[in-house]
Amino acid sequence: VRMVDVIEKKRNGEVLTKAEIELFVNGYTDGTIPDYQASAFLMAVYFKGMNAEEQAHLTLAMVESGEQIDLSAIEGVKVDKHSTGGVGDTTTLILVPLVAACGVPVAKMSGRGLGHTGGTLDKLEAMKGFHIELTKEQFVKQVNDLKLAVIGQSGNLTPADQKIYALRDVTATVDSIPLIASSIMSKKIAAGADAIVLDVKSGEGAFMKTLEDSKALAQAMVAIGNEVGRNTMAIISDMSQPLGNAIGNALEVTEAIETLQGKGPEDLTELCLTLGSQMVVLGGQAESLEEARKMLKEVIQNGKALQLFGDLIEAQGGDRTVIEDPSRLPRAQYQIPVVASRSGYVTKMEADDIGIAAMLLGAGRATKEDKIDLAVGIVLNKKVGDYVEKGETLAILHANSEDVTQSTELLLQHIHIEDAKITPPPLIGEIIT
Ligand code: URA
Ligand code: CA
Repeated sequence: VRMVDVIEKKRNGEVLTKAEIELFVNGYTDGTIPDYQASAFLMAVYFKGMNAEEQAHLTLAMVESGEQIDLSAIEGVKVDKHSTGGVGDTTTLILVPLVAACGVPVAKMSGRGLGHTGGTLDKLEAMKGFHIELTKEQFVKQVNDLKLAVIGQSGNLTPADQKIYALRDVTATVDSIPLIASSIMSKKIAAGADAIVLDVKSGEGAFMKTLEDSKALAQAMVAIGNEVGRNTMAIISDMSQPLGNAIGNALEVTEAIETLQGKGPEDLTELCLTLGSQMVVLGGQAESLEEARKMLKEVIQNGKALQLFGDLIEAQGGDRTVIEDPSRLPRAQYQIPVVASRSGYVTKMEADDIGIAAMLLGAGRATKEDKIDLAVGIVLNKKVGDYVEKGETLAILHANSEDVTQSTELLLQHIHIEDAKITPPPLIGEIIT
């Protein structure tokens, strides 16, 4: 077969074989297939789609293009969790120690934030001294000793995905469900997870703006995972407003600590209990979701989860005393309130724009090369459905510059206040297995 025949076949809407998909992935990765053919192929996939089997072939071909992490030296079922990205999504920081405290080993590879979405690695680095580089041997040993470790993604993982993703970015082929699903799943599978819990975000602040698209993406990823022998399930969760109250790196570490102390925001706590229960069941530590939830609440109450977070910080070079005293985290110079310009009910807090407001303060990167300020960000005082008086504080900007005009305007524009009270969209949507 020649690449041109593979392109033609997909252009005509036919189903590709494993060999044809491998021809594309291997040829594009090793440079024998040029950008113009790969672009045409990706556009054909964008328009004609791929069935579940094709998506599994594509995923595995990308997995096999690079290094695969072997976690078999870690005892137990290794359960990974992935979020498709949101604003103020602090769940990983909380879930890692939370499920580890219930006996599930967590060997986590995380990424950095880009645009209006945050990344777990940046948040962890808000703790002075915390390092995310461990050798594979150190990584495995730490999970065996402590039950948890979080590191950055190795450069050799799924090189095919890295190259294809860069091409998709400039050929208007990013938002294709088979391409997104295979891209995400290839990284999870290469990272060695036995079981995968997916948190697919839906709404203004997410990749997928509608429930219908989020559900289709979740179904595609679950199908791939199960097709390649990794127990996979997904939940759809709301990202029309930011999750929790804090947006920004050190601020989210503080929020994570508060949640592990049992004093976190209601929505963030509930999402962690929901995802965590699934992880504990997949990890074989509980028979039912109800039992798992009970265990999770117990390790919050008895402080075990918080202490494990301390163990993680200490093992990776940070100062564990922040778990008792989060004021030791970097703090911005100015705390500037944004106040309501009228009375009424909060009907909408557009997560993407609020994320951008935090990015403009320095909490996130507009481009990959940007430096971020770990101390800055936004703490929301109100959520959708709350009543607010004119002049009351909607949010506090934590800034290292006195001029916060742009961020203030974004918040005032995108936090809607109206006369009629509305019920916020449900936090947890469908569960897909
Ligand atoms: N995230 C990924 O890793 N890949 C995609 O294609 C989209 C989002
Ligand atoms: Ca948050």
